[in-house]
Amino acid sequence: MPPTRLLLIVIIPLMVLLAAVATIPVFVGGGDNADTPAAHELKYAARTDPVVVALPPTHPADRHKVAEKLDEYITQLPTLGGVIARPDQLPDDQKTRLASVVESLFGKPAAPTVAGIDPATADRFALRPQDLASVVNHYRQSCSNCHGSTGNGRGVSGLYSFPHPRDFRSGKFKLATGAGVGTGRPRFADVMTAIKLGVPGTTMQATGLPDAQVRRLAGYTVFLSIRGEVEVELIKALADPDEAPSDIEAEAKKRLAAVLKKWTDADAEVPLTHAVQPRPEAVTPEYAESVRRGQKLFTSAQGACTSCHTNYGRTPTYRYDVWGVPNEVRNLTDKERHWARTPEDFVRQLKYGIAAAGMPAAPAGLNDQDLADLVHFVRELPFAERLPDDVRREVYPK
Ligand code: HEC
Ligand code: HEC
Repeated sequence: MPPTRLLLIVIIPLMVLLAAVATIPVFVGGGDNADTPAAHELKYAARTDPVVVALPPTHPADRHKVAEKLDEYITQLPTLGGVIARPDQLPDDQKTRLASVVESLFGKPAAPTVAGIDPATADRFALRPQDLASVVNHYRQSCSNCHGSTGNGRGVSGLYSFPHPRDFRSGKFKLATGAGVGTGRPRFADVMTAIKLGVPGTTMQATGLPDAQVRRLAGYTVFLSIRGEVEVELIKALADPDEAPSDIEAEAKKRLAAVLKKWTDADAEVPLTHAVQPRPEAVTPEYAESVRRGQKLFTSAQGACTSCHTNYGRTPTYRYDVWGVPNEVRNLTDKERHWARTPEDFVRQLKYGIAAAGMPAAPAGLNDQDLADLVHFVRELPFAERLPDDVRREVYPK
């Protein structure tokens, strides 16, 4: 068959079919059965999964219980000393009221909105109604399979991957480089970076889309995050008899304003003063000396890195992330880096930690030179041939 005929007879109809399947609404409950309401009637599903209020004081021993059974896992955290709030156990009248208040602030998938947002903030985070509406279908087709249609990180295929797809509803992200770096609240540019370049070594692929499109996807991600965070805060307040608000609507507006302020505050740039060298092509004696000091610090009590990165991270070790999920402490002999792309990223990571991931800030006693030494060491660690002989023998004993 000539290629043009093949294109007409097989490929084009197949593409039309695929496009049709991909647009089947998957909002409520993720199903596409005969009861699926028409697109304009779809609602964002109300949250039913447990909210992590406080993590257990102990460390998780493994991760295998989590896949597929995320909610069951989080539900049992109180037996380990954690605290959770259960939206499914709120009285029915509160559930109904909560759902209608959240919908009145954020709309439905056919017309997402952030009620009362000022134009400058809406513009800054791509949160204008027309920005949001223009990208709903794109998100539904490319993202909700993993991140879920409400941004709950519980899309049908996502839970099988580890780390799990981000649950946007905590307002916490692993990539945060601005004023929110200490708490894990990102800059808008960070959200765009994750979407554009992906997260190497995870199922989060680079989209490589043009900036205008990435911007809108980032806006929708932030929208879902804000919506989810306001909902979470109301659930926590309602679940706590001492705090339960009498006027949920007024409370919701107050919380929304506070969440928006957190995003705006975190969007401020924080310049780094540290002078970390770019990776030199050939290892100079001074650089080797810095790598050596870095290795000593890494394995010392002062650096405290090995309390988690045992055997440079080769021994499987877990820490809870802010979502209540056992997160793997990274094997730093692995060349793949999730977040650090530049020397500045490395410094920031060590100086401030990765709050959402359970990676703490470096001990306060370390000075700028110490941090630079650590960065130089960690950066060279996977490349045995670039380590000074004595360091290599220690890190990679035969
Ligand atoms: C195949 C599953 C999958 C798909 C599809 C996917 N993601 Fe992700 N995404 C992930 C995983 C897994 C992570 C978390 C990586 C980690 O924790 O290290 C992630 C992380 C992110 C982050 C970074 C969060 C942070 O903590 O800094 C953003 C933002 C994001 N995804 C947005 C999107 C958007 C927008 C789309 C659609 C264009 C999308 N993702 C599609 C799996 C997916
Ligand atoms: C309390 C446990 C803990 C301690 C202490 C700790 N880390 Fe980590 N570290 C983690 C976890 C968890 C991750 C995985 C982050 C993620 O989910 O992407 C990580 C990730 C990293 C990464 C990889 C980041 C990337 O881009 O992939 C580097 C580099 C790193 N740690 C270096 C250090 C250094 C250097 C020290 C000592 C100053 C240290 N860590 C101390 C838990 C810890």
